[in-house]
Amino acid sequence: MAGRGNFSNRLGFILAAAGSAVGLGNIWKFPFEVEAGGGAAFVLIYLIFCFLLCFPVMVTEIAIGRKTNKNAVGAFNALGYNKWNIIGKMGILAGIVILSFYNVVAGWALGYFFEMAQGNFSVGKEFGSYVANVSTTGVYAVIFMAFTAYVVSRGVSAGIEKGAKILMPTLIIMILGLLGYSLTLPNAMTGVKYYLIPEFSELNLKTIGGALRQSFFSLSLGMGTIITYGSYLSKKENIISSTVSVTFFDVGIAFLAGLMLFPLVAYSTGGDMSDVQGGAGLIFAALPSVFESLGTGLGSLLGAFFFLLLSFAALTSTVSLLEVPVSYVVDEHKISRPKATAITAAIIFIAGLPSLVGNGYSEMFTSFVTYVGAEGPVGFMDFLGHLADCMLLLGGFLIVTFAGYVWKKENLNEEIAIGYEGYENSRVKVFIGFAVRYLCPALLGLLFIMVVLSNFFGVDIIN
Ligand code: PHE
Repeated sequence: MAGRGNFSNRLGFILAAAGSAVGLGNIWKFPFEVEAGGGAAFVLIYLIFCFLLCFPVMVTEIAIGRKTNKNAVGAFNALGYNKWNIIGKMGILAGIVILSFYNVVAGWALGYFFEMAQGNFSVGKEFGSYVANVSTTGVYAVIFMAFTAYVVSRGVSAGIEKGAKILMPTLIIMILGLLGYSLTLPNAMTGVKYYLIPEFSELNLKTIGGALRQSFFSLSLGMGTIITYGSYLSKKENIISSTVSVTFFDVGIAFLAGLMLFPLVAYSTGGDMSDVQGGAGLIFAALPSVFESLGTGLGSLLGAFFFLLLSFAALTSTVSLLEVPVSYVVDEHKISRPKATAITAAIIFIAGLPSLVGNGYSEMFTSFVTYVGAEGPVGFMDFLGHLADCMLLLGGFLIVTFAGYVWKKENLNEEIAIGYEGYENSRVKVFIGFAVRYLCPALLGLLFIMVVLSNFFGVDIIN
């Protein structure tokens, strides 16, 4: 496949796919989902979802990509099922939707890096006005998109793989360093307990739906990212063990991020966890004062370090989000990669403008819609987030259904067996066959409906 590019080896693929997976979702969202969802009880459900439901989806996506050496849309055409390329088209749309707002948040992280480096901790208390100030956040959003486009334009091995090979190890070292430090702070154990002690009473259908949504988003599934990355994977590699590595990587980093954050929070509140502010705002609104409490010098060093880490994690994800449409344009429309990247990035940036202004600057986009039965309106960014959740679950459902009933599990298995001696008689094979035909279609279909009802109609079946 001259010209399309390839990952140079297994490690390159794993780091790039893990780079896609590890992102704002892990560091920004996961810790608080855990806390809100009942601590270790949520982690348990999350792990079950990752290995039971997400695992077969990831294996299938990689297999479809590697078999065809094509982008998310072209892959279905190459298999001879042109009608099913709607899955890939929806994936490209989901990629555009997600990147349009994700890039804005990534821009905040980058902006906070500079604020922390200058010891400006007050941005946390002024978070609302910070994000409403679009002349600043807009510049960071442009810079972030430009970085992303630069990496993607350099191609698979010189851009995506090389970026992941530099950023991912750096990210791990940074997290471990910050984690080690935060565990030595007074009250650290209070934070750890708050994070992890299981509260089974807080586990309900809503948190279970939340765990599924989070696992899909976090593993970058259901929108063709992994089909695209799989298309650059060599036939020598073992799809099953690569999937296991990527999943552990993602789950591991998310877990460590929580272990690093809660001791910091406990330290700054003196061990009083009664009114810890959860949710999305925490990192941007509350963390700066946590760093401030460490003193100006150390605080700005660690604060800058933290937001740089968050920016790095986001960058390998934005790269994978942009690669989905770019790979499509390059393959199907024969436009050169640099040109395709520039055009696509510009379009997605423009699509992100409502998200940019929808955080206090423009009233219309800040209070964008009120769902049926909801108390108040949600902003454009949250709306896109909810939409994306649903698109990924639907995409995942369609991908396994396609593999199980249309492409057929025999063909799927044949592809998986390449690079995995002994797959023929293994238990994994039995499991994958069962998962793509029964387990995943049934549960993903059900949970998709549940998440749509809960996201948009306020219907929580059990609460
Ligand atoms: N997995 C990324 C995160 O957790 C986000 C993402 C979703 C990236 C879908 C690519 C595709 O931040």
